Amino acid sequence: MDKQRLVKTAQALVADKKGILAADESGGTIKRRFESINVESTEKTRRDYREMLFRTAGVSDFISGVILFDETIRQEGADGTPLVKVLTDQGMIPGIKVDKGTIPLPEAPDELVTEGLDGLRGRLNEYVELGAGFTKWRAVINIADDTPTPYGLNANAHSLARFAALSQEAGLVPIVEPEILRDGDHSIERCFEITEETLREVFDQLAQQKVLLEGMLLKPSMVISGGSAAQRADPDEVAERTIECFKRVLPASVPGVVFLSGGEPDNSVTANLNAINQKTTELGTPWQLTFSFGRSLQGAPLSAWAGKAENTEAAALAFYTRARLTSAARQGKYVPED
Ligand code: 13P
Repeated sequence: MDKQRLVKTAQALVADKKGILAADESGGTIKRRFESINVESTEKTRRDYREMLFRTAGVSDFISGVILFDETIRQEGADGTPLVKVLTDQGMIPGIKVDKGTIPLPEAPDELVTEGLDGLRGRLNEYVELGAGFTKWRAVINIADDTPTPYGLNANAHSLARFAALSQEAGLVPIVEPEILRDGDHSIERCFEITEETLREVFDQLAQQKVLLEGMLLKPSMVISGGSAAQRADPDEVAERTIECFKRVLPASVPGVVFLSGGEPDNSVTANLNAINQKTTELGTPWQLTFSFGRSLQGAPLSAWAGKAENTEAAALAFYTRARLTSAARQGKYVPED
């Protein structure tokens, strides 16, 4: 394991003012996103849209790395430049989603487990050749009356750790993503309890499987109320509960936390990230607390683009603006009316 290289990449990904763009939507997900703007999902439309994001001038001031899907890491821009080169020329690190999505967990109603470990070692070596510096694996945890179960948490944590260990062996920084879905009307207390249980299991498995904590990043959900809860906790409470929970279970040697946006509205997820960063000094947190957003960075540019080449400039401006505001929140300097 090349420890120095892993630590250097992990630290670069959570550098001051910066966070990650998640642009690794699978075929099905990008098709749904494009349907929302009445655009057909083809290899060319996906390329054009993502190339617009990657070529947005100045965005590398806020974005340290970009998570790609398998198709994108092999694609060239309109002028023949590999999209990986478009990123690295601007100092952004290309990453790759390596899981293959979720399937039902056997004998566990309403729980999922993530596939993709078979043949992963070979695929990782190929991604290194293609220029990747880091990887991502997403596990999905659903909060309901009877879930998650200890079995569901253990199965998901086990594959997250297998993925992380294999990534580090290949020299790639793993982004370990146990996503706790916001769906449901549960309270913030219930989210706290499940987040604590999940992270405890994940870090137990990471330790058992010899993952170098200094050379990985955690991509969690924030501790929030369910999306349809009658009373949703405000950013101050989200920040306090999130940090309180992480301080119990997240080792100080992990360099950074890169939150997902999870389908939370842009203004609310940005305000929550801002509140979390405003409390870091007061509450004494050892990790960088930044973002790895998909929807919250892409919603505005996707609508502005609408599949039309003449909208490229407006879409790039929308993306730049979201990246700038999210970077401000990552520093605790976000002004909502900005
Ligand atoms: P969202 O920010 O849209 O939740 O996406 C992040 C991600 O990469 C999910 O795997």
